[in-house]
Amino acid sequence: MSFPHKRADFPDDFIFGVATSSYQIEGHAKGGAGRTHWDDFAATPGNVVRGETGALACDHYTRYAEDLDLVQAGGFDAYRFSISWARVMPDGVNINPEGVDFYDRLTDAMLERGIHPCATLYHWELPSSLADKGGWRNRDIAHWFADFTQAIMSRIGDRMSSVAPINEPWCVAWLSHFLGEHAPGLRDIRAAAHAMHHVLLAHGSAIETMRALGMTNLGGVFNMEWADPVDNSPQATRAAARYDGIYNHWFLSGVFKGEYPQIVLEGLEPHLPDRWQDDFPTIQSPLDWVGVNYYTRKRIAPETDLTRPGWPALREVDGPLPKTQMGWEIYPEGLYQLLTRTTRDYTGDLPLFVTENGMACADQREPDGVNDPARIAYLETHLAQVKRAIQDGVPVQGYMVWSLLDNYEWALGYEKRFGLVHVDFDTLERTPKSSYHTLANALRS
Ligand code: FCB
Repeated sequence: MSFPHKRADFPDDFIFGVATSSYQIEGHAKGGAGRTHWDDFAATPGNVVRGETGALACDHYTRYAEDLDLVQAGGFDAYRFSISWARVMPDGVNINPEGVDFYDRLTDAMLERGIHPCATLYHWELPSSLADKGGWRNRDIAHWFADFTQAIMSRIGDRMSSVAPINEPWCVAWLSHFLGEHAPGLRDIRAAAHAMHHVLLAHGSAIETMRALGMTNLGGVFNMEWADPVDNSPQATRAAARYDGIYNHWFLSGVFKGEYPQIVLEGLEPHLPDRWQDDFPTIQSPLDWVGVNYYTRKRIAPETDLTRPGWPALREVDGPLPKTQMGWEIYPEGLYQLLTRTTRDYTGDLPLFVTENGMACADQREPDGVNDPARIAYLETHLAQVKRAIQDGVPVQGYMVWSLLDNYEWALGYEKRFGLVHVDFDTLERTPKSSYHTLANALRS
């Protein structure tokens, strides 16, 4: 399949990478990692498809060298990986030397292959012992997280190309405490409001901890969705603005403006922790770059079901565009819109990176390999929007595909395949898909 992009079309120091996360690939049962709130969530019937967990996942804990060989052979410059809090501190307090050693080996293995290590400190493995103390609802999480940051970065921080504290604050806070779809599975507006604030306080505390260690190139990774009102009515426009406020503006506004958007405070202010305004100096710790994770847009309508009263009074409506295996509409323009708006309204000259983008397909291994033309088309159209943003002056400096490997897709288990590399979950055999080969060719040219 012909692919119109090549490395030479992008700025000279533009970074191409692939992303993964610890719980989704490592195999959490190995190496003395502690129990996480995700394990507790998955143990509760109905939360995760077939009750699947990350106990074995891709067994990257044992096979990391083979996986990094794939990153290198694909011609990627960077590997965005995450560090499991519960592997480093199984009980949330004491350090597991085996866990720290693993990330030390992993880091050196990247450097030996000429791959930039780009770390995320939290991609959702809260130790259960800390969840028992209230997890993201408890203000002390900022201190617990700073201690974890210190424990791991005092060991490997000298070799990181870049670090972001928290992957996708919206998922950590809203998806997990208001929508109940991720651990801890709460549907509680007060818990959600506390988590929406504490996640940013913890982010800022980790940035301060790493600055004190002398580290540079620190950023924040935010997931963003474009929100379109279902029609032109003022009600739908207002509902979409609320969705946009909760999903996108809350976090950027907190970090870059030291305030929360009024359209969200209308619903959340009564539930926020005391003296929340005092925390902005920490939340606003200066960043060196911002990462945008982008997959789709949502069409938003006002809530019309009278049995569901109350804020934020909105609902998602099925859209007409072609969809991925996740049921997410494919809407490449949304990436352009969010990159340009983020630069214009929040980040100015700060470098932006697309830190996740990709699609799930029901890929199957055939005798001639794994053909995934839909994924190639997805990457092609989204890279075109990245180019368009760069041409319009947006300082996008890198693009990372989610994901290197098929992996554990959280509440949806193992059947949603996002990898450039197919994984047979019975034998753990890796097979690069046609999308992997297509990108490798583009990066060589
Ligand atoms: C993102 C997550 C990542 C993966 C992709 C599909 O929200 O960061 O772990 O699940 O979605």
